[in-house]
Amino acid sequence: MANIIIFGAPGSGKGTQSERLIAKYNLCHISTGELLRDHIARKTELGIVADSYCSRGQLIPDDLMIEILAHTIDNDPNAAKGLILDGFPRTIPQARALKQLLAERGMKIDNVIGLEVPEDELVQRLLKRGQESGRSDDNLETINKRLDVYRTQTYPLRDYYINEGKYAAIKATGTIDEIFERIADVIEGR
Ligand code: AP5
Ligand code: MG
Repeated sequence: MANIIIFGAPGSGKGTQSERLIAKYNLCHISTGELLRDHIARKTELGIVADSYCSRGQLIPDDLMIEILAHTIDNDPNAAKGLILDGFPRTIPQARALKQLLAERGMKIDNVIGLEVPEDELVQRLLKRGQESGRSDDNLETINKRLDVYRTQTYPLRDYYINEGKYAAIKATGTIDEIFERIADVIEGR
């Protein structure tokens, strides 16, 4: 059983590569962004709170996000197969909380897969998706806010996981298959 964080900026391919990973390694995919979008679509109490942050490209508060993540891990029967965490952690407090909550359950993070993409390509990918599928935060103003939040609050996790000896930098440009091969090499220790 492997527990993997798929890490990267908005548009770096976390969701796309997670789909490949769950298919190949039979892991349990937890995407905090998808989870929040599902609540927003259903207009639940959490969804109404989450929407006020997501629509502005801001992170929802750490305490709330950590509580949701712990609840999700504890209630997903597939979690024991191993986790792909997509979009969590996004701040240093979230990373520390994750370490503790996994340790309390006899688990740990094995790999942090860092998808590294130049910023101009991130913007192009997100604008394209905004035109094609209409995700509401894929407009230029919110994309710029999301990238700003990434730079200031999330990017420092790269050093955090380098210090833990867990970070693998992946060149995440090229075809989806080429990138997936690079990720599989890391996971399988090639
Ligand atoms: P979240 O849903 O995690 O969004 P994000 O980080 O902005 O990233 P995306 O989902 O847009 O991109 P991705 O990296 O998954 O790339 P994808 O595969 O889709 O979070 C949304 C919001 O929720 C946050 O802003 C925040 O408000 C809140 N939130 C979530 N987690 C939180 C947390 N932990 N704490 C607090 N708040 C939280 O690919 C993008 C596009 O590029 C797609 O169209 C895809 O087809 C295309 N593409 C993928 N790979 C390639 C390739 N190789 N070449 C060309 N195009 C490609
Ligand atoms: Mg995503």
